[in-house]
Amino acid sequence: MDYIRIKDLLDAPKTGDTVTIKAWVKTKRGSKQVNFIALNDGSTIHNLQIVAESEKFDEEIIKKITTGACISVTGNVVESKGSGQAIEIQAENIEILGESDADKFPLQPKKHSLEFLREKAHLRVRTTTFGAIYRIRHAMIFAVHNFFNDKGFYNVHTPILTSSDAEGAGEMFRVTTLDPKNPPLNEEGEVDWKEDFFERQSNLTVSGQLEGELSALALGNIYTFGPTFRAENSNTTRHLAEFWMIEPEMAFYDLKANAELAEEFLKYLVTYALDHCEDDLNFLAKREEEENKNKPAAEKPALSLLERLKMVRDNDFAYCTYTEAIEILKNSKPNKKKKFAYPVDEWGIDMQSEHEKYLVEKHFKKPVIVTDYPKDIKAFYMRVNEDNKTVAAMDILFPGIGEIVGGSQREERLEVLTARMKDFGIEEEHMWWYLDTRRFGTCVHSGFGLGFERLMLFVTGMTNIRDVIPFPRTPGNCEF
Ligand code: 4AD
Ligand code: MG
Repeated sequence: MDYIRIKDLLDAPKTGDTVTIKAWVKTKRGSKQVNFIALNDGSTIHNLQIVAESEKFDEEIIKKITTGACISVTGNVVESKGSGQAIEIQAENIEILGESDADKFPLQPKKHSLEFLREKAHLRVRTTTFGAIYRIRHAMIFAVHNFFNDKGFYNVHTPILTSSDAEGAGEMFRVTTLDPKNPPLNEEGEVDWKEDFFERQSNLTVSGQLEGELSALALGNIYTFGPTFRAENSNTTRHLAEFWMIEPEMAFYDLKANAELAEEFLKYLVTYALDHCEDDLNFLAKREEEENKNKPAAEKPALSLLERLKMVRDNDFAYCTYTEAIEILKNSKPNKKKKFAYPVDEWGIDMQSEHEKYLVEKHFKKPVIVTDYPKDIKAFYMRVNEDNKTVAAMDILFPGIGEIVGGSQREERLEVLTARMKDFGIEEEHMWWYLDTRRFGTCVHSGFGLGFERLMLFVTGMTNIRDVIPFPRTPGNCEF
């Protein structure tokens, strides 16, 4: 390589060396005689200061050093006299690699709102905030694979195009090669899916779980980490139409072992971020403090970003059953009106995010694992408990997020499973391959799904899920 990355230079600076840096211009300031250029190449949150004396350079070159331009600088590493950095580069040679018209470049050297940056999603990675988020995202992806690899789990690629609805919730994006305006019809006058590419109706996967189960019942312990798609029209700060999910599946694990693995996994990820993303986390923590400075106490998180991460790292998660959670909620006074917007009046309701947040933020004040939900509000594959009213399900609730993990012990008994499918209106003939796991060598097994962007919300302290994935897909948003 004929150039050095800024991170490597800052990690082991040698004054007196001559180095070349290739990077993008953040700002340029200075006087007629001398220019101070802040450069960033994405390797670190820190900018590198370049000192360029005007007399050494063509006027045209200095003019072209504008915010957003890409340049190559060769110069000497010297101790910096300015505060805020240990070293800087005394420029000897500057080459403009890519100009950036200062009047047209959409990102000015000032603070932009997150809303504005969402509309500039193609360039927002050039900002300090999104650089930090992208790097933390990478660290978390790496940590996921590390965790499972160290434990001897196998990573399995599950299909993205499928013809099944793993969650049975009917929230699939349809995939078709038929002409929507003029589809072929069968004798009954309905769309003839036999004419479609796969000769059947197909969709984008909502979860890799069912295929994950097939693998677990051969390899023992596996995990998937892939994109999943949901056409739920929920325009919230916690839902995406395209999100990434990590789904481990383990033969011979019951619900308790499943929950213990999930807790260990989440602690590992948070600890990994604290240990490996210090500079980026410190920046985001300061950013959050700044954002919340003028807010009333009730709207601010009780703990700072770093305190929240350490709270997860250092505390055992709380456990409670759904039934206990409903009792807690019934007897609670969540606000001045002493009422939830969505009342908790009977056993069997689906908990809303205000309920989840109350449990985790006001009642337990740490992550909580809620187990044994009513069978009617959970998916068909969850194992029915002895009471025949609840299933061996678990949701893990996090402060500021609500549900971050959903999982369960799976229904391994063929007759119970087929009866459940009947209740849900799921046709056996579509699921014959899944049912084969229960016909041939079935066993106790469990798994869970961690929403990767929900994890990213927690780790970065960002409050809108659109800001923790490079290209968010939400209702009405699929520009590029
Ligand atoms: O609770 P969910 O729907 O569970 C499943 O998909 C199971 N198949 C998982 C399993 O047992 N293998 O989704 C799991 C997690 C949720 O807890 C949440 O973190 C995330 O996925 N999630 C979403 N994240 C972003 N946008 C959405 N629309 C999400 N829907 C679920
Ligand atoms: Mg769920």
